[in-house]
Amino acid sequence: MIQTGIITISDRASQGVYEDFGGPALRAAAQGHGWQVHAEVIVPDDLKAIQTAVQSLESQGCGLILTTGGTGIAERDVTPEAIRGIMKVELPGFGEVMRMRSLEITPNAILSRCLAAVVGRSLVVALPGKPQGAVECLGFVLGAIPHAVKLAQRVPTSC
Ligand code: MTE
Repeated sequence: MIQTGIITISDRASQGVYEDFGGPALRAAAQGHGWQVHAEVIVPDDLKAIQTAVQSLESQGCGLILTTGGTGIAERDVTPEAIRGIMKVELPGFGEVMRMRSLEITPNAILSRCLAAVVGRSLVVALPGKPQGAVECLGFVLGAIPHAVKLAQRVPTSC
């Protein structure tokens, strides 16, 4: 079973200014896919805080880390920069597919810099902040996740 960590990245949700709907939406989606949700955290749009949260979940053994928020072009959006600062490799296909498929739903999908990368032994998938958008994007790359997690965790596979 895939151990999953979920990080909501939002200044306002982390301050309690508004309720976090993205984390719970991803938790429901992850559980629906049969994954075990190990932990959920909320952090502000702060590069160091994002990196610390990702590294903490990685060290707790999460093979999959889902983040939601901070992928756009607002002044405080730094999720891609934070992940790229600690990743081993980026998996560009994830971002390409998430944007391409999302464009069929909304032209604003082009504004998301959503991505996936390997950090330590975790697959990190950085999803948009809108709960529905995050769940949609996760659905578009679902098929590749089990194999990508195995590779990130260095589990021997046949391909
Ligand atoms: N992708 C999907 N599938 N559905 C959406 O509703 N919203 C877009 C985009 N990607 C959206 C989406 C919008 S409006 C923005 S601004 C960007 O994601 C970035 O969102 P973020 O900064 O909250 O991560």
